[in-house]
Amino acid sequence: MSLPIKNVSLEELDKRAFFHPYTALAEHAEGGPRVIAKAEGIRVTDTNGEELIDGFAGLWCSNIGYSREEMAEAIYEQARTLSYFHCFGSMGTEPSIRLADLLIDLMPDNMSKVQFGNSGSDANDTSIKVVWLYNNILGRHHKKKIIARHRGYHGITTQVAAVSSLPTVHSAFDLPIERVRRVSPACYYWRPDKAMTEADYTAYLVNELEQVILNEGPDTVAAFIAEPIAGAGGLFTPPDGYWEGVQRVLAKYDVLLILDEVVTGFGRVGHMFAAEAYAIVPDIMTMAKGLTSGYVPMSASVFSEDIWQVLLEGHKTLGVFGHGYTYSAHPLAAAAGLANIEIMLREKLVDNAAVVGRYLQKRLRDELNDHPLVGDIRGIGLLAGIELADKSGGEPKPFEPRGVEGQKLAVACRNNGLIGRLLMDSDVFALSPPLIISNDEVDLIISILKKSLDEVLHDR
Ligand SMILES: Cc1ncc(COP(=O)(O)O)c(C=O)c1O
Repeated sequence: MSLPIKNVSLEELDKRAFFHPYTALAEHAEGGPRVIAKAEGIRVTDTNGEELIDGFAGLWCSNIGYSREEMAEAIYEQARTLSYFHCFGSMGTEPSIRLADLLIDLMPDNMSKVQFGNSGSDANDTSIKVVWLYNNILGRHHKKKIIARHRGYHGITTQVAAVSSLPTVHSAFDLPIERVRRVSPACYYWRPDKAMTEADYTAYLVNELEQVILNEGPDTVAAFIAEPIAGAGGLFTPPDGYWEGVQRVLAKYDVLLILDEVVTGFGRVGHMFAAEAYAIVPDIMTMAKGLTSGYVPMSASVFSEDIWQVLLEGHKTLGVFGHGYTYSAHPLAAAAGLANIEIMLREKLVDNAAVVGRYLQKRLRDELNDHPLVGDIRGIGLLAGIELADKSGGEPKPFEPRGVEGQKLAVACRNNGLIGRLLMDSDVFALSPPLIISNDEVDLIISILKKSLDEVLHDR
């Protein structure tokens, strides 16, 4: 690099100039950053040379693992041939056209058209705007409300922060939430009445959704947005029959389903998409993260043929579809997406996620269920959450205040060489390792977790 290198540590430069996302700003101003210098496979190394297992694949995204030569080559080749061109006004580039076609082949049959973006947030934003546009074209000008779930997470741009339902995302920002209504998260462990069977609980949730639609008026409710398995809000796997019941209600009142597969897409749960695992037929699917395994930012909002037909008809008079980003369908990102999916298919990483995922889920339950600090273990495939709880009185109770014990566990794991993620406003410690992980590496993760839980228990 020919730019002058200042004779100041990275830590000092960071504190001087860098505004960190999702960071406790006051603490950071004191403590400064931990700088990651390199990564390979499932491991990252910081600037002090300390190596950590990345049990969270960055931010649930490095599905094929870090720093793969083949990915570097695909991005390099694309940068040399066509570093950038846009797709506005009917322009196109080869990698983005090929990637759209490949995605449609991989997705549920009713999915028809792909609009690319740059982040999970903008993919959900695009979807909500298209839902509003769709109802405007159909002349249903009042059918605009979006139902979201408490503790759902769909991103942080203004409108999707409004449908995300976590205190940290809402507090202190003035979000325009007029068109948003909320229902309960779907997690049997969190059921409102311990006497409920799983079937009772599913019926309760489905009925709640139906009542909200009826109370609002079905002609005012446009869409339900949800993750197949809620990730950042608490790693909630739905109770049996949940998605079947939800889809029945949505169909009855002509409410669209926006399925947010930003975390669950691209093999994470042992299926290419979680829609397969729960027999979900969405109207709109959003994805990001595993689409390029984080090598280059990219997201996609995918629309059903039914929606597409309405848009086509409407645009005979509307003319231009007035939405898109400078970097929508960026050719470098599309080249990364194609190479990433090719690696996933060739190395059968979705199958690996299913097989090693079953092993992870079993070992977590066998080894940690009875630990005095563990209230619940949830997950599917290579997605898992360990919820800490106070079991001193017998029945597990949430710790108050939330997040303190979980933070101790996250710190202990990190000191013992494992990165996981404490989910926001909770005591749920989540794992979402790269899909290339082996059983031996799972064993290593379990032994670090056990040791760290014991340390937290010991220090209480
Ligand atoms: C389910 C889900 N949707 C959307 C997003 C937002 O994605 P991004 O951070 O790329 O905007 C996230 C981020 O973690 C997510 O977990």
